[in-house]
Amino acid sequence: MNRNIVCIGAGYIGGPTMAVIAKMNPDRKVVVVDINAERIAAWNSEDYSLPIYEPGLVEVVKEVRGKNLFFSTDIKGAVQECDIVFVGVNTPTKMFGRGSGRASDLQYWEATARSIKEYATGDKIIVEKSTLPVRTAAAMDAILNDHAKYTFTVLSNPEFLAEGTAIKDLLEPDRVLIGGPQTEEGLKAIDAVVDIYATWVPREKILTTNVWSAELTKLAANAFLAQRVSSINAIAGLCEATGADVDEVARVVGADKRIGAKFLKAGPGFGGSCFKKDVLNLVYLCETFGLHTAAEYWSGVIKMNEHQQERIVSRLFKEMFNTLANKKIALFGFAFKADTGDTRETPAGTVARLLAEEHVRITITDPKALVNARRDLADLDGIDYEIDEYKAVENADAIVLMTDWRHYPSLDWQRIYDSMRKPALVFDTRNCLDAVALRKIGFKVLNIGK
Ligand code: NAD
Ligand code: UGA
Repeated sequence: MNRNIVCIGAGYIGGPTMAVIAKMNPDRKVVVVDINAERIAAWNSEDYSLPIYEPGLVEVVKEVRGKNLFFSTDIKGAVQECDIVFVGVNTPTKMFGRGSGRASDLQYWEATARSIKEYATGDKIIVEKSTLPVRTAAAMDAILNDHAKYTFTVLSNPEFLAEGTAIKDLLEPDRVLIGGPQTEEGLKAIDAVVDIYATWVPREKILTTNVWSAELTKLAANAFLAQRVSSINAIAGLCEATGADVDEVARVVGADKRIGAKFLKAGPGFGGSCFKKDVLNLVYLCETFGLHTAAEYWSGVIKMNEHQQERIVSRLFKEMFNTLANKKIALFGFAFKADTGDTRETPAGTVARLLAEEHVRITITDPKALVNARRDLADLDGIDYEIDEYKAVENADAIVLMTDWRHYPSLDWQRIYDSMRKPALVFDTRNCLDAVALRKIGFKVLNIGK
């Protein structure tokens, strides 16, 4: 029997994941619901101006929306109609009370569990899609099954997609993880979720575990990735001090198959909605279980990351004659990485704020993230937002390249140089521009780790 699916939460995770599940399971009805009516309206918009930008997403939504994929605010109706409920609501870092600044804020999750229980008219499989602290499933189980008319089986199916490559990651995942209770009922529920993915993911890539391992694996996987970025950034500072080149070091270190080449790109530090939040969550869990040395170890990953943005501004300060006041600096890119409009925890935001403290006249340009940039920095006066890079650099003293948008290397850098104040400086924090060519034009060039 192919069971109908509802996903609660129509964000970066719920939207793309369910679009791909619907595409690959044409005989199932998939409904994505959210309390945010504006977001649902955007998912349903006639001209497909979807609430998030993700390469290939519009094509998938065009193929399935209205056929077997639906977006709605009717949470009650959708829950009643389905057998499997994915929950992909946000789980931000808690900013109050116990665990403030580290623990996950689980209020959205709990609210969701309570509405599922209230609306259900039959047994359901509840699937954690959000990233959650280990043992959240136990709390969910307690809320859902206490004095309940129906049986709710809670599974964990964390998502490993990265923004910008979400559709590719969903279509060709390295692995799919499904954790559940090791009981007869739990194993049956795991099978039901395996069936959804098995329509396109090879069986050997669908890994099943107990529910606690699945919850912890997601936090561990993000912590390992974040740790690699902080590790190479920690080496970058040493490269700058010694004449070594971080890209060369990374290439050779990564050629060791035991280490691997990915996630060794030095830069302005990691951003995005999850790395910081999930590492902080791991730190909090370690502390909760009295593992203070482990907590300190993982805290170092965050500390190193924050230091990287401070270092960028310190180097600019030094190279621009120890005063930045009233100078014009253009930030190239505000998204936390290329191919997304997402600006959550973007290093560019931190750098912009540090520059604003120095009374810099800031202009921000980004092909996809200007709306979010304006919203994020609404409390800062006097920042200009300009989609056109050539206009953004007029009379600027420096450019700080923050996001590795693919077209930046092929801009007309001579034209850019000609319209800037001299001496003209480019700080390429992603090491993606041709520094030799820029120096030939006349730019002073700074890089990370060189
Ligand atoms: P998001 O903020 O983009 O989307 C969450 C959505 O949930 C919002 O639209 C919000 O309105 C909705 N919501 C909140 N409470 C609700 C409720 N009670 N009922 C119905 N809808 C409700 O967040 P996201 O980026 O999609 O992340 C969601 C989860 O997925 C997080 O736990 C995150 O860690 C995890 N995750 C995200 C990514 C990613 O790339 N963004 C990758 C892997 C895992
Ligand atoms: C990350 C993980 O890669 C996903 O597997 C995970 O599902 C997701 O978090 C999540 O849980 O939300 P994402 O944050 O979308 O995905 O983006 P990444 O490609 O991981 O990049 C994160 C940050 O690290 C970016 O700011 C990026 O520029 C930076 N980064 C990445 C580097 O500075 N160097 C690298 O070598 C790699």
